[in-house]
Amino acid sequence: AFSVDVRSRVDCSPDPHSLNEQKCKSRGCVWEFPQVDAPKETPPCYFPSTTGYVKTKDLGNGVLVLEKQNGPLNPFGADISPLKLKTHYIGSTFELSIGNDDRYIPPLNLPKEQPNDNSDPLDFQETSGTNGTFTFQMIRRSTGRIIWDTSIGGLLFADQYIQIATLLPSTNIFGFGEHVHKTLKHDMTRYTTWPMFATGFPPDSGSQLSTHPLYGVHPFYLCIEPDGKTHGVLLLNSNAQEVTLGPAPHLVYRTIGGQLDFVFFAGPTPEAAIQGYLSYIGKPFLPAYWALGYQLSRWGYQGVDEMKTVIRRNQAAGIPLDVAVADIDYMSTYEDFTEGEKWSTFPEYAQELHSQNVNLILIFDPAIENVSFVEWPRFDQVPTKIQDQYPLAKNTKMMLGNVWPERNVAFPDFLDPTNKTELWWIDEFRRFHDMLPYDGIWIDMNEPENFQTGTLKGNNSNGKTLQCIVDGIDGKFDNPPYETKAVYDGFDPFLASKTLCLNGLSIRGTNNLYNTKSLYGWSESRATAKAHQSAIKKRGAVISRSTFVSSGRYTGHWLGDNVARWEDLRTSVIGVIEFNFFGIPYVGSDICGFTGVTWEELCLRWHQMGAFHSFSRDHNMHYMPAQDPAVWPSVTKAAKIALTFRYRYLPYLYSLHYRASTIGSTVVRPLFFEFSSDSETFSIDRQFLWGKALMIAPALDPGIDSVHAYFPDDLWYSLQDETYGKIIPPGYNDVPAKNDTLTPVFARGGYILPRQTPSTTTKESRNNPFELLVTVGQNSISEGELYYDDGVTQFDSIDQNPHFSFNFTYSYSRTAASLNARWSTSISNYTLPTLDIIDIVGYDYTPDFNSFYLNGKRININIQTSSYSPFTRRLFISTKN
Ligand code: NOJ
Repeated sequence: AFSVDVRSRVDCSPDPHSLNEQKCKSRGCVWEFPQVDAPKETPPCYFPSTTGYVKTKDLGNGVLVLEKQNGPLNPFGADISPLKLKTHYIGSTFELSIGNDDRYIPPLNLPKEQPNDNSDPLDFQETSGTNGTFTFQMIRRSTGRIIWDTSIGGLLFADQYIQIATLLPSTNIFGFGEHVHKTLKHDMTRYTTWPMFATGFPPDSGSQLSTHPLYGVHPFYLCIEPDGKTHGVLLLNSNAQEVTLGPAPHLVYRTIGGQLDFVFFAGPTPEAAIQGYLSYIGKPFLPAYWALGYQLSRWGYQGVDEMKTVIRRNQAAGIPLDVAVADIDYMSTYEDFTEGEKWSTFPEYAQELHSQNVNLILIFDPAIENVSFVEWPRFDQVPTKIQDQYPLAKNTKMMLGNVWPERNVAFPDFLDPTNKTELWWIDEFRRFHDMLPYDGIWIDMNEPENFQTGTLKGNNSNGKTLQCIVDGIDGKFDNPPYETKAVYDGFDPFLASKTLCLNGLSIRGTNNLYNTKSLYGWSESRATAKAHQSAIKKRGAVISRSTFVSSGRYTGHWLGDNVARWEDLRTSVIGVIEFNFFGIPYVGSDICGFTGVTWEELCLRWHQMGAFHSFSRDHNMHYMPAQDPAVWPSVTKAAKIALTFRYRYLPYLYSLHYRASTIGSTVVRPLFFEFSSDSETFSIDRQFLWGKALMIAPALDPGIDSVHAYFPDDLWYSLQDETYGKIIPPGYNDVPAKNDTLTPVFARGGYILPRQTPSTTTKESRNNPFELLVTVGQNSISEGELYYDDGVTQFDSIDQNPHFSFNFTYSYSRTAASLNARWSTSISNYTLPTLDIIDIVGYDYTPDFNSFYLNGKRININIQTSSYSPFTRRLFISTKN
């Protein structure tokens, strides 16, 4: 009677152990084995569409009361009834929550600002499903498009099993993290479950489909509706959770704690949907200007001398380089805030680096050695204070583990609301900075990762045994009725695998890690951003491995321990785009690959691509051979070309980050963000844009010298030397992608991109003249902007920061060309370099060098250094003598 199409089932047996007909029926579910041609992973046991609650009261003000009256019971615990459903608008952003007052809510302190674009709102509509089951729809008012429809049934709410399902308006679904996604657009032809739970598991790009949850948790997706309008949806929940994407198309959310807090972002463009999302969760921090420079890192330097040698040889080779990074090698026996024996001259080296305009980023791990709190030398004066950092290590030993420094450690409780942990952490960074003047902070292992499963090492001879409580009332956290697919893929048999017991406590003992584990990296990031401010007193960068919704306010991210493999190069393009959706635009992958021995061709291609990621860092696993660009002459050459291009366009990249910080826009974005009415762009995930105006189509495969790239319908000018200024026609084109030239990169017509003549450090580049690239578009006006400040001054509010802000417009006719640069500034004692070059592509007329105007004034052009070619249609204007 309740037979449901094989394409729209809500799995009643997500736990594989109960997969049989009898168990299925005893749950009140339907057993119907899918035919062979059914979509992959169609569940044979599914919830009838009557599964749900009934509305019993409308309390007004958007609050409804729901009660469990019919349908199967929750298979994983007593149904909670009644429940409250609350709705609330913030501009066109819509909040919908289903839960109760005593449910856990992550303490994120989100700004919840309304989006700039409120033009195309969504409506909430109650509907009634089978047997009077309460269901609802979300509808785009302007088009009547139903973007959510819960008539598929399946609302369940027990203490440790909460579920909701909805039909979706299209198969164009993007996002959810953190995982390896082999395609940017999700495969909706099958059932796929993506668990989300912070783990230290490395990304596995090698397998066909790895759904393992990685370091961060981002339950956010974008959906392009059939007419190209786009919305975003967030599930704000920090418990272990998962989403199943299915072919109806539909999705099923399951979480094992907290409540359902959904936020809908109306868009109506992809970029507006992200801006709405970031207005709500908080906009990303603005990295220091130098942090957009190239970074050289590795794990496994034998001492400061080896680090020097490597940095020097890259500088000597002319590689643009702004940051030297030290991994845990610099520490004494891997303890935070210490320096190892072979690193005694590190402080002098830090000064030397500074004198070369190179900055230093250091790694820090969260865990602190715990052999004996009282004898621990840093804090012997105030042992009780130390104990305060670990309120529950003291009482329950549950915040204890074994990880770097590979001994017994305690994990600071960064969610401690009394701020004691935070103040102690800040103090440590300050003191250490006095000893070793670093400029940026890299935080690692903060899922938190543990080398073993559960509590202290040594209690049990078998390291694999779960050393957490699994029975009785206390067992509910480490042995919940449903554990999510985070634990069912064979790698990790427990939720506590390679982490702490989930009955461990945080928030000063008031909450279990069961609720807060995925917030650990987030809370460490918040404390570390403050520590950075207070120790360094300038802007820099914090990079974190584990992230959560809104981490971008405090940190950037790298994609973790990838493998030197083509697949990993390719999936890093997707990962970086996704982290831009998640509000963490300062992101990149370990260039050349972290694990495994890289090789010349891969390392070369990775540099050509990685030069276009905001966080651009070569990083390598210990014991692996060196892979800095100076190792191979061909890589040196390619890296130099790509990074020199990057350094030239840094004013543009920095302006994009400024936009991200102020209005929540993306920096790296997929093609469909600019061309959402062209459905061909939806599946383009080997190319990406910088803002609106630059497109990068990197080589991601072995043995090729051209790339088959898609050009949406617009004017695209090649910026590669051999074809500079040439227009590439719309559609698919093979463009040259040699290993000794620039990565295929194209500028879109109608824009003005600010540049600066590059040197090999940003500090020097910043003294060089400005340049503008003007691309003539389909109409006669081109536009662009430049945000420029000193790159390092710390500020509370970005608007109060002393800065220059330029708006450029260029208009062009047969008789004259004029450039307008309107600018505002709040800096008085700072002189900008001059604008010496205007590089115009797509210039159709024979130029009259006497009729170029800047802000209405004729430009004094140096005819000797300026040029025009009617063949390339490039007009190069130089004012320099
Ligand atoms: C794990 C990190 O992901 C990696 O980047 C780092 O090199 C090692 N920890 C050692 O600190």
